Amino acid sequence: MQKSYVMIKPEFASYDAVIEEVKRRLENEGIEILEERFVKYDKASADKHYAEHVGKDFYPKLLEYITSDKAYGMIVEGENAIEKIRALAGSTKNPEKGTIRYDIPLALGIERRITQNVVHSSDSEESAKREIEIFSSLPDYQDENQNS
Ligand code: CMP
Repeated sequence: MQKSYVMIKPEFASYDAVIEEVKRRLENEGIEILEERFVKYDKASADKHYAEHVGKDFYPKLLEYITSDKAYGMIVEGENAIEKIRALAGSTKNPEKGTIRYDIPLALGIERRITQNVVHSSDSEESAKREIEIFSSLPDYQDENQNS
């Protein structure tokens, strides 16, 4: 059994139907969702999560996107989970039809973009462990527009 971290990124995390569809695809592959909640990444947590990308030309855009609104994080587990989920997500640059990164923007009528894509998933057990720790350190997302 292997753990992974899946994050539905801002813009897409605001659609309940997207969350349900991503979960359905994971569960169809025998991936169990152990923990799930809305969080909001701040700059420090995004820099840690995306440590390998800090300094790249696309990083400012990625940072702006990832910290722009709530994201939906999930700690998941399953046989060969990391590889299975990366196949479900599709490639970063040119996702194929039938993958989350292809199908979901199409279904919503949103342009498919490389940086502002639908979903992140861990690329190794080491990344999964680090990403899960960062996720676990984030407070629950609080709707800033709510008066309570
Ligand atoms: P993700 O799977 O979250 O991991 C790194 C993110 O950086 C990736 O999804 C994209 O959002 C973004 N990204 C990776 N490569 C590129 C690239 N070549 N150009 C623009 N954005 C990228």
